Amino acid sequence: MKNNIKNITLDLGARSYDIAIGYKIIDILGPMLERLNIGQDAVIITNNTIHHLHGAHLNSVLSRYGYSSRFILVADSEKSKSYKVCLDVIQKIAAFDMNKKIFIIALGGGVIGDLAGFIASIYKRGIAYVQVPTTFLSQVDSSIGGKTGIDLAVGKNLVGSVYQPRLVVSDISFLRTLSLKQIRNGLAEVVKYGIIKDPALFYYVEKNCKDILKLSIECMQKIVCDCSRIKAQVVKIDEFDKTGKRAVLNLGHTIGHAIEAAAGFTKDYSHGEAVAIGIACACDISVKLKLLSRKDAKRIEALLKNIGLPVYCHGVKLHDIIQAQSHDKKFIHGKNRFVLPVKIGATVIKEDISIKLIEDALKRRVK
Ligand SMILES: NC(=O)c1ccc[n+]([C@@H]2O[C@H](COP(=O)([O-])OP(=O)(O)OC[C@H]3O[C@@H](n4cnc5c(N)ncnc54)[C@H](O)[C@@H]3O)[C@@H](O)[C@H]2O)c1
Ligand SMILES: [Zn+2]
Repeated sequence: MKNNIKNITLDLGARSYDIAIGYKIIDILGPMLERLNIGQDAVIITNNTIHHLHGAHLNSVLSRYGYSSRFILVADSEKSKSYKVCLDVIQKIAAFDMNKKIFIIALGGGVIGDLAGFIASIYKRGIAYVQVPTTFLSQVDSSIGGKTGIDLAVGKNLVGSVYQPRLVVSDISFLRTLSLKQIRNGLAEVVKYGIIKDPALFYYVEKNCKDILKLSIECMQKIVCDCSRIKAQVVKIDEFDKTGKRAVLNLGHTIGHAIEAAAGFTKDYSHGEAVAIGIACACDISVKLKLLSRKDAKRIEALLKNIGLPVYCHGVKLHDIIQAQSHDKKFIHGKNRFVLPVKIGATVIKEDISIKLIEDALKRRVK
Protein backbone atom coordinates (compact mmCIF):
# COMPACT_ATOMS: atom_id res chain seq x y z
CA MET A 1 0.00 0.00 0.00
CA LYS A 2 2.91 2.35 0.70
CA ASN A 3 3.38 5.14 -1.82
CA ASN A 4 0.62 3.58 -3.88
CA ILE A 5 -0.36 6.88 -5.45
CA LYS A 6 -3.78 7.39 -7.06
CA ASN A 7 -4.51 10.36 -9.27
CA ILE A 8 -7.94 11.81 -9.92
CA THR A 9 -8.24 14.69 -12.37
CA LEU A 10 -10.80 17.40 -11.77
CA ASP A 11 -11.61 18.30 -15.33
CA LEU A 12 -12.25 22.04 -15.64
CA GLY A 13 -10.60 22.84 -18.96
CA ALA A 14 -7.76 25.31 -18.44
CA ARG A 15 -8.33 25.13 -14.66
CA SER A 16 -8.04 21.33 -14.46
CA TYR A 17 -5.88 19.82 -11.73
CA ASP A 18 -4.90 16.55 -10.15
CA ILE A 19 -5.88 15.23 -6.76
CA ALA A 20 -3.04 12.91 -5.71
CA ILE A 21 -3.90 10.44 -2.95
CA GLY A 22 -1.59 8.01 -1.17
CA TYR A 23 0.36 7.08 1.92
CA LYS A 24 3.43 9.27 2.56
CA ILE A 25 3.17 10.89 -0.85
CA ILE A 26 4.26 14.21 0.62
CA ASP A 27 7.76 12.81 0.09
CA ILE A 28 7.30 13.23 -3.67
CA LEU A 29 5.80 16.71 -3.53
CA GLY A 30 8.97 18.11 -5.16
CA PRO A 31 8.56 16.37 -8.53
CA MET A 32 4.79 17.02 -8.47
CA LEU A 33 5.46 20.76 -8.05
CA GLU A 34 8.16 20.80 -10.72
CA ARG A 35 5.62 19.65 -13.29
CA LEU A 36 3.38 22.62 -12.46
CA ASN A 37 6.12 25.22 -12.96
CA ILE A 38 4.46 27.63 -10.53
CA GLY A 39 7.59 29.10 -8.92
CA GLN A 40 10.46 28.24 -6.59
CA ASP A 41 9.37 30.07 -3.46
CA ALA A 42 6.70 28.44 -1.34
CA VAL A 43 4.68 30.39 1.21
CA ILE A 44 3.21 27.76 3.52
CA ILE A 45 0.14 28.88 5.44
CA THR A 46 -0.56 26.66 8.44
CA ASN A 47 -1.08 26.74 12.21
CA ASN A 48 1.13 25.84 15.18
CA THR A 49 -0.39 22.41 15.72
CA ILE A 50 0.24 21.28 12.15
CA HIS A 51 3.57 23.07 11.88
CA HIS A 52 4.78 21.22 14.95
CA LEU A 53 3.65 17.85 13.54
CA HIS A 54 4.54 18.16 9.87
CA GLY A 55 6.33 21.48 9.21
CA ALA A 56 9.95 20.28 9.45
CA HIS A 57 9.30 17.35 7.14
CA LEU A 58 7.59 19.50 4.51
CA ASN A 59 10.46 21.99 4.73
CA SER A 60 13.04 19.27 4.07
CA VAL A 61 10.97 17.78 1.22
CA LEU A 62 10.84 21.21 -0.45
CA SER A 63 14.48 22.12 0.04
CA ARG A 64 15.57 18.78 -1.45
CA TYR A 65 14.10 20.05 -4.73
CA GLY A 66 15.53 23.55 -4.45
CA TYR A 67 12.39 25.30 -3.20
CA SER A 68 12.66 28.05 -0.62
CA SER A 69 9.96 27.96 2.02
CA ARG A 70 8.48 30.55 4.33
CA PHE A 71 5.95 29.43 6.94
CA ILE A 72 3.21 31.83 8.01
CA LEU A 73 1.39 30.61 11.09
CA VAL A 74 -2.14 31.57 12.12
CA ALA A 75 -4.05 30.63 15.28
CA ASP A 76 -5.52 27.13 15.42
CA SER A 77 -9.14 28.25 15.28
CA GLU A 78 -12.10 28.94 13.00
CA LYS A 79 -11.46 32.57 14.06
CA SER A 80 -8.47 32.59 11.68
CA LYS A 81 -10.99 32.74 8.84
CA SER A 82 -11.33 36.48 9.46
CA TYR A 83 -10.49 39.57 7.42
CA LYS A 84 -8.05 40.66 10.13
CA VAL A 85 -6.00 37.47 9.90
CA CYS A 86 -6.39 37.47 6.12
CA LEU A 87 -4.89 41.00 5.81
CA ASP A 88 -2.16 40.22 8.31
CA VAL A 89 -1.08 37.16 6.28
CA ILE A 90 -1.21 39.11 3.01
CA GLN A 91 1.07 41.77 4.48
CA LYS A 92 3.54 39.10 5.56
CA ILE A 93 3.45 37.57 2.09
CA ALA A 94 4.04 40.96 0.45
CA ALA A 95 7.04 41.64 2.71
CA PHE A 96 8.55 38.30 1.69
CA ASP A 97 7.66 38.60 -1.99
CA MET A 98 10.72 40.50 -3.29
CA ASN A 99 12.44 39.23 -6.42
CA LYS A 100 10.71 35.88 -6.06
CA LYS A 101 8.14 33.79 -7.84
CA ILE A 102 5.96 32.70 -4.98
CA PHE A 103 3.13 30.23 -4.69
CA ILE A 104 1.06 29.26 -1.67
CA ILE A 105 0.78 25.89 0.03
CA ALA A 106 -2.25 25.44 2.29
CA LEU A 107 -1.04 22.92 4.89
CA GLY A 108 -3.93 22.05 7.16
CA GLY A 109 -7.62 21.34 7.52
CA GLY A 110 -10.57 23.22 6.06
CA VAL A 111 -9.86 26.39 8.02
CA ILE A 112 -6.37 26.75 6.58
CA GLY A 113 -7.52 25.60 3.12
CA ASP A 114 -10.35 28.16 2.97
CA LEU A 115 -8.18 31.02 4.26
CA ALA A 116 -5.08 30.24 2.16
CA GLY A 117 -7.17 29.64 -0.97
CA PHE A 118 -8.93 32.98 -0.49
CA ILE A 119 -5.62 34.79 -0.03
CA ALA A 120 -4.24 33.11 -3.17
CA SER A 121 -7.32 34.30 -5.07
CA ILE A 122 -6.94 37.99 -4.12
CA TYR A 123 -3.19 38.56 -3.66
CA LYS A 124 -1.91 40.19 -6.86
CA ARG A 125 -5.32 39.32 -8.38
CA GLY A 126 -4.58 35.63 -8.02
CA ILE A 127 -1.48 33.49 -7.57
CA ALA A 128 -1.04 29.71 -7.73
CA TYR A 129 -1.77 27.61 -4.68
CA VAL A 130 -1.61 23.97 -3.73
CA GLN A 131 -3.83 22.25 -1.20
CA VAL A 132 -2.13 19.84 1.19
CA PRO A 133 -5.10 18.78 3.33
CA THR A 134 -4.22 17.27 6.71
CA THR A 135 -7.65 16.47 8.19
CA PHE A 136 -9.96 13.72 7.03
CA LEU A 137 -12.69 16.29 6.32
CA SER A 138 -10.39 18.40 4.19
CA GLN A 139 -9.13 15.36 2.25
CA VAL A 140 -12.62 14.10 1.42
CA ASP A 141 -14.23 17.48 0.91
CA SER A 142 -12.96 21.01 1.50
CA SER A 143 -9.62 20.86 -0.37
CA ILE A 144 -11.39 20.02 -3.63
CA GLY A 145 -13.55 22.32 -5.71
CA GLY A 146 -12.06 25.75 -5.13
CA LYS A 147 -14.55 27.22 -2.65
CA THR A 148 -12.46 29.56 -0.53
CA GLY A 149 -13.47 32.13 2.03
CA ILE A 150 -13.50 33.81 5.38
CA ASP A 151 -16.25 34.41 7.95
CA LEU A 152 -18.01 37.58 9.08
CA ALA A 153 -19.47 38.10 12.54
CA VAL A 154 -22.95 37.62 11.05
CA GLY A 155 -22.19 34.36 9.30
CA LYS A 156 -19.72 31.80 8.04
CA ASN A 157 -18.07 31.88 4.60
CA LEU A 158 -19.84 35.11 3.63
CA VAL A 159 -16.77 36.54 1.88
CA GLY A 160 -15.03 34.33 -0.60
CA SER A 161 -14.36 33.15 -4.10
CA VAL A 162 -14.35 30.09 -6.29
CA TYR A 163 -10.66 29.78 -7.11
CA GLN A 164 -9.18 26.43 -7.99
CA PRO A 165 -5.88 25.12 -6.61
CA ARG A 166 -3.24 23.84 -9.05
CA LEU A 167 -2.90 20.54 -7.20
CA VAL A 168 -4.32 18.71 -4.20
CA VAL A 169 -2.02 16.32 -2.34
CA SER A 170 -3.89 14.10 0.12
CA ASP A 171 -1.33 12.20 2.16
CA ILE A 172 -3.14 9.51 4.16
CA SER A 173 -0.28 9.35 6.70
CA PHE A 174 -1.31 12.80 8.01
CA LEU A 175 -4.51 11.25 9.36
CA ARG A 176 -2.61 9.23 11.98
CA THR A 177 -2.22 12.24 14.27
CA LEU A 178 -5.92 13.19 14.21
CA SER A 179 -8.22 12.62 17.19
CA LEU A 180 -11.13 10.21 16.86
CA LYS A 181 -13.44 13.25 16.98
CA GLN A 182 -11.71 14.60 13.87
CA ILE A 183 -12.00 11.27 12.06
CA ARG A 184 -15.73 11.17 12.85
CA ASN A 185 -15.98 14.77 11.66
CA GLY A 186 -14.78 13.66 8.21
CA LEU A 187 -16.90 10.51 8.25
CA ALA A 188 -20.09 12.57 8.38
CA GLU A 189 -19.18 13.94 4.94
CA VAL A 190 -18.31 10.43 3.75
CA VAL A 191 -21.77 9.16 4.76
CA LYS A 192 -23.19 12.20 2.95
CA TYR A 193 -21.41 11.21 -0.28
CA GLY A 194 -22.73 7.65 0.08
CA ILE A 195 -26.30 8.88 0.48
CA ILE A 196 -26.21 11.38 -2.37
CA LYS A 197 -24.25 9.46 -5.00
CA ASP A 198 -22.68 6.17 -4.03
CA PRO A 199 -24.58 3.35 -2.28
CA ALA A 200 -21.49 1.08 -2.59
CA LEU A 201 -19.49 3.59 -0.54
CA PHE A 202 -22.27 3.70 2.07
CA TYR A 203 -22.28 -0.12 2.36
CA TYR A 204 -18.46 -0.14 2.50
CA VAL A 205 -18.50 2.22 5.49
CA GLU A 206 -21.21 0.09 7.13
CA LYS A 207 -19.17 -3.06 6.66
CA ASN A 208 -15.74 -1.66 7.56
CA CYS A 209 -16.68 0.82 10.27
CA LYS A 210 -14.32 -0.69 12.88
CA ASP A 211 -11.30 -0.76 10.57
CA ILE A 212 -12.02 2.76 9.39
CA LEU A 213 -12.09 4.04 12.98
CA LYS A 214 -8.75 2.25 13.47
CA LEU A 215 -7.45 4.20 10.45
CA SER A 216 -6.64 1.21 8.25
CA ILE A 217 -4.51 2.68 5.44
CA GLU A 218 -6.36 0.62 2.84
CA CYS A 219 -9.78 1.83 4.04
CA MET A 220 -8.75 5.46 4.35
CA GLN A 221 -7.14 5.53 0.91
CA LYS A 222 -10.19 3.94 -0.71
CA ILE A 223 -12.55 6.37 1.00
CA VAL A 224 -10.50 9.49 0.18
CA CYS A 225 -10.33 8.29 -3.46
CA ASP A 226 -14.07 7.59 -3.71
CA CYS A 227 -15.07 10.89 -2.11
CA SER A 228 -12.57 12.90 -4.19
CA ARG A 229 -13.95 11.30 -7.35
CA ILE A 230 -17.54 12.16 -6.39
CA LYS A 231 -16.66 15.72 -5.42
CA ALA A 232 -14.67 16.15 -8.66
CA GLN A 233 -17.65 14.92 -10.71
CA VAL A 234 -20.07 17.28 -8.99
CA VAL A 235 -17.76 20.31 -9.23
CA LYS A 236 -17.04 19.58 -12.89
CA ILE A 237 -20.71 20.01 -13.80
CA ASP A 238 -21.36 23.06 -11.61
CA GLU A 239 -18.06 24.71 -10.70
CA PHE A 240 -19.59 28.05 -9.67
CA ASP A 241 -22.64 26.64 -7.89
CA LYS A 242 -24.94 28.25 -10.46
CA THR A 243 -27.11 25.46 -11.82
CA GLY A 244 -28.17 23.87 -8.54
CA LYS A 245 -26.21 20.66 -9.28
CA ARG A 246 -23.48 21.41 -6.72
CA ALA A 247 -26.19 21.99 -4.11
CA VAL A 248 -26.54 18.23 -3.66
CA LEU A 249 -23.36 18.42 -1.54
CA ASN A 250 -25.40 20.35 1.02
CA LEU A 251 -27.27 17.31 2.32
CA GLY A 252 -27.50 17.77 6.09
CA HIS A 253 -25.91 21.20 5.89
CA THR A 254 -29.01 23.43 6.09
CA ILE A 255 -29.80 22.33 9.62
CA GLY A 256 -26.14 21.43 10.30
CA HIS A 257 -25.01 25.03 9.77
CA ALA A 258 -27.87 26.30 11.94
CA ILE A 259 -26.74 24.00 14.77
CA GLU A 260 -23.12 25.17 14.40
CA ALA A 261 -24.25 28.80 14.43
CA ALA A 262 -26.60 28.32 17.40
CA ALA A 263 -23.75 26.60 19.29
CA GLY A 264 -21.63 29.69 18.52
CA PHE A 265 -19.15 27.72 16.37
CA THR A 266 -17.62 26.35 19.56
CA LYS A 267 -15.87 22.99 19.70
CA ASP A 268 -19.10 21.52 21.24
CA TYR A 269 -20.29 20.63 17.76
CA SER A 270 -17.75 20.01 15.02
CA HIS A 271 -18.95 20.65 11.48
CA GLY A 272 -19.35 16.91 10.88
CA GLU A 273 -21.29 16.35 14.09
CA ALA A 274 -23.70 19.13 13.21
CA VAL A 275 -24.03 17.71 9.67
CA ALA A 276 -24.82 14.24 11.09
CA ILE A 277 -27.76 15.70 13.04
CA GLY A 278 -28.71 17.64 9.89
CA ILE A 279 -28.73 14.41 7.86
CA ALA A 280 -30.94 12.74 10.49
CA CYS A 281 -33.36 15.72 10.29
CA ALA A 282 -33.35 15.62 6.47
CA CYS A 283 -34.24 11.91 6.66
CA ASP A 284 -37.10 12.66 9.09
CA ILE A 285 -38.49 15.31 6.72
CA SER A 286 -38.08 12.99 3.76
CA VAL A 287 -39.92 10.14 5.52
CA LYS A 288 -42.75 12.55 6.47
CA LEU A 289 -43.04 13.57 2.80
CA LYS A 290 -43.08 9.87 1.84
CA LEU A 291 -39.94 10.35 -0.25
CA LEU A 292 -37.76 7.98 1.78
CA SER A 293 -38.64 4.62 3.32
CA ARG A 294 -38.47 4.24 7.11
CA LYS A 295 -36.13 1.31 6.54
CA ASP A 296 -33.53 3.43 4.69
CA ALA A 297 -33.89 6.25 7.23
CA LYS A 298 -33.20 3.76 10.05
CA ARG A 299 -30.21 2.36 8.19
CA ILE A 300 -28.72 5.85 7.75
CA GLU A 301 -29.31 6.69 11.41
CA ALA A 302 -27.77 3.37 12.50
CA LEU A 303 -24.61 4.04 10.48
CA LEU A 304 -24.20 7.53 11.91
CA LYS A 305 -24.61 6.12 15.43
CA ASN A 306 -22.19 3.26 14.74
CA ILE A 307 -19.56 5.75 13.69
CA GLY A 308 -20.13 7.57 16.97
CA LEU A 309 -21.74 10.63 15.43
CA PRO A 310 -24.68 12.33 17.18
CA VAL A 311 -28.18 12.12 15.71
CA TYR A 312 -29.72 14.16 18.52
CA CYS A 313 -28.63 17.63 19.57
CA HIS A 314 -28.06 18.42 23.26
CA GLY A 315 -27.26 21.71 24.93
CA VAL A 316 -28.35 24.01 22.11
CA LYS A 317 -31.65 25.92 22.25
CA LEU A 318 -34.26 24.93 19.66
CA HIS A 319 -35.21 28.60 19.27
CA ASP A 320 -31.60 29.55 18.46
CA ILE A 321 -31.36 26.86 15.79
CA ILE A 322 -34.60 28.00 14.16
CA GLN A 323 -33.35 31.62 14.22
CA ALA A 324 -29.98 30.68 12.76
CA GLN A 325 -31.65 28.64 10.06
CA SER A 326 -33.58 31.58 8.73
CA HIS A 327 -30.26 33.42 8.12
CA ASP A 328 -28.79 30.57 6.11
CA LYS A 329 -27.26 31.28 2.68
CA LYS A 330 -29.24 28.39 1.27
CA PHE A 331 -32.43 30.40 1.63
CA ILE A 332 -33.15 31.74 -1.84
CA HIS A 333 -35.56 34.67 -2.17
CA GLY A 334 -36.98 33.80 1.23
CA LYS A 335 -37.54 30.15 0.28
CA ASN A 336 -35.69 27.43 2.10
CA ARG A 337 -33.98 24.70 0.12
CA PHE A 338 -33.36 21.17 1.35
CA VAL A 339 -31.51 18.22 -0.12
CA LEU A 340 -33.67 15.23 0.80
CA PRO A 341 -32.66 11.56 0.49
CA VAL A 342 -35.05 9.38 -1.53
CA LYS A 343 -32.96 6.24 -1.07
CA ILE A 344 -29.36 5.40 -0.24
CA GLY A 345 -27.63 6.77 -3.34
CA ALA A 346 -30.20 9.35 -4.51
CA THR A 347 -31.64 12.66 -3.36
CA VAL A 348 -34.04 15.37 -4.52
CA ILE A 349 -33.80 19.08 -3.91
CA LYS A 350 -36.99 20.62 -2.53
CA GLU A 351 -37.72 24.27 -1.99
CA ASP A 352 -40.14 25.87 0.42
CA ILE A 353 -40.50 23.02 2.88
CA SER A 354 -43.16 24.02 5.41
CA ILE A 355 -41.79 25.61 8.56
CA LYS A 356 -43.95 23.24 10.61
CA LEU A 357 -42.30 20.20 9.04
CA ILE A 358 -38.83 21.59 9.74
CA GLU A 359 -39.74 22.54 13.29
CA ASP A 360 -41.27 19.11 13.95
CA ALA A 361 -38.06 17.46 12.79
CA LEU A 362 -36.01 19.81 14.97
CA LYS A 363 -38.27 19.25 18.00
CA ARG A 364 -37.65 15.53 17.69
CA ARG A 365 -33.88 15.90 17.31
CA VAL A 366 -33.10 18.75 19.70
CA LYS A 367 -33.26 17.54 23.32
N1 LIG B 1 -14.26 24.98 0.98
C1 LIG B 1 -15.10 23.99 1.12
O1 LIG B 1 -15.60 23.43 0.14
C2 LIG B 1 -15.43 23.51 2.49
C3 LIG B 1 -16.15 22.32 2.68
C4 LIG B 1 -16.38 21.87 3.97
C5 LIG B 1 -15.88 22.59 5.07
N2 LIG B 1 -15.18 23.75 4.86
C6 LIG B 1 -14.62 24.51 5.98
O2 LIG B 1 -13.65 23.69 6.61
C7 LIG B 1 -13.52 24.09 7.97
C8 LIG B 1 -13.49 22.85 8.83
O3 LIG B 1 -12.38 22.07 8.42
P1 LIG B 1 -11.77 20.92 9.35
O4 LIG B 1 -12.88 20.08 9.84
O5 LIG B 1 -10.67 20.30 8.59
O6 LIG B 1 -11.29 21.72 10.63
P2 LIG B 1 -9.93 22.49 11.01
O7 LIG B 1 -9.26 23.03 9.82
O8 LIG B 1 -10.27 23.43 12.11
O9 LIG B 1 -9.05 21.30 11.61
C9 LIG B 1 -9.51 20.62 12.77
C10 LIG B 1 -8.41 20.52 13.83
O10 LIG B 1 -7.47 19.52 13.44
C11 LIG B 1 -6.15 20.02 13.59
N3 LIG B 1 -5.34 19.29 12.62
C12 LIG B 1 -5.28 19.45 11.27
N4 LIG B 1 -4.54 18.49 10.72
C13 LIG B 1 -4.09 17.72 11.72
C14 LIG B 1 -3.31 16.55 11.77
N5 LIG B 1 -2.85 15.94 10.67
N6 LIG B 1 -3.06 15.99 12.99
C15 LIG B 1 -3.56 16.56 14.12
N7 LIG B 1 -4.33 17.64 14.14
C16 LIG B 1 -4.59 18.22 12.94
C17 LIG B 1 -6.31 21.50 13.33
O11 LIG B 1 -5.20 22.23 13.88
C18 LIG B 1 -7.61 21.79 14.04
O12 LIG B 1 -7.41 21.98 15.43
C19 LIG B 1 -14.68 25.02 8.26
O13 LIG B 1 -14.20 26.35 8.32
C20 LIG B 1 -15.62 24.84 7.07
O14 LIG B 1 -16.35 26.01 6.77
C21 LIG B 1 -14.95 24.20 3.60
ZN1 LIG C 1 -19.60 20.00 5.05
